[in-house]
Amino acid sequence: MTKITTQVRGMGSYLPERVMTNEEMATIVDTSDEWIVQRTGIRERHLAADGEMTSDLCLKASERALEAAGMTAADIDLIIVATTTPDQTFPATAAILQTKLGMSHGMAFDIQAVCSGFVFALTTADTYLRTGLAKRALVVGAETFSRILDWTDRTTCVLFGDGAGAMVVEAVETGDDAESGILASSLRTDGAHWKKLYVDGGVSSTGTVGHVHMEGREVFKHAVGMISDVIEDVLEKTGKTTEDLDWFVPHQANKRIIDGAGRKLGIPEEKTIVTVDRHANTSAASVPLALSVAVADGRIKKGDLVMIEAMGGGFTWGASLIRW
Ligand code: UT7
Repeated sequence: MTKITTQVRGMGSYLPERVMTNEEMATIVDTSDEWIVQRTGIRERHLAADGEMTSDLCLKASERALEAAGMTAADIDLIIVATTTPDQTFPATAAILQTKLGMSHGMAFDIQAVCSGFVFALTTADTYLRTGLAKRALVVGAETFSRILDWTDRTTCVLFGDGAGAMVVEAVETGDDAESGILASSLRTDGAHWKKLYVDGGVSSTGTVGHVHMEGREVFKHAVGMISDVIEDVLEKTGKTTEDLDWFVPHQANKRIIDGAGRKLGIPEEKTIVTVDRHANTSAASVPLALSVAVADGRIKKGDLVMIEAMGGGFTWGASLIRW
């Protein structure tokens, strides 16, 4: 007997050229490098240039992921972009990315699950691939979050940045008992919390784009429990324990949340990939950015067992276990 599994073929990422340090941030709002580093672990963030759109960030990350996979856009038949900051209200940023990649075949659409977007998008791609709806997918998390920040609100503007990460996955027929590719995922949403992290604008409400608002302490309070909940679910589904993990690649929002989740789950720091210091919270881009760094520097290798997770607006939260 055989089954179809979703295998990772390549990763790529892109951060805009413009770097804004905590020191520079302190010239705009009443904050300090010391406060930001101590409370979040963030040291700097990247900002998209004027005219540089989410689809442009997607394109650069996607080209790198395709190159790493040894493929071209012609090989892809599904594009999913996870973003909260699309180029336009419609069409989907994925459709704009598709044409920028020179493709007109296959299907392309966006997923909106804020910071959990990449885990939701990857799980969607996995489902499409395993059911035969597509053969090779490009899954991208990309944000120009700087465009929806209130640059006078120190409680939010210091926390976020722009960037993109992309993954190429392929459906492969394996033996029934083979353990490779995406092994299991767990996704959750609880809309009762939406006002704790939201944007105060929208197409059918205000007709404006709006700005990010967050009850930081409330988000923090729920984060570790929600993250642990989906990770434990994925471990139970696969019969694994945290000791089996080679790498833990969490959503890069706040080093204190990452440390809290690691402590609760018993995952040591040396198995945890942390990149939040370099790019702040890039929402849907954060997990593929961190994965990309750890693959490029040789930490994540073929055969490794990798747990990814994210939590964010909605609230949404999710995790996937991948045999790389
Ligand atoms: O993907 C999910 C996205 N969101 C998150 O992950 C965020 C989750 N929450 C957090 O990471 C933390 O709650 C924050 C980093 C946002 C805030 O840290 P905190 O330890 O919860 O601080 P706080 O909100 O309790 O604020 C403590 C103090 C306050 O002053 P008072 O009232 O004690 O005098 C704030 O006004 O820090 C003040 N403060 C700042 N000070 C300097 C808030 N923002 C800043 C700032 N610089 N940027």
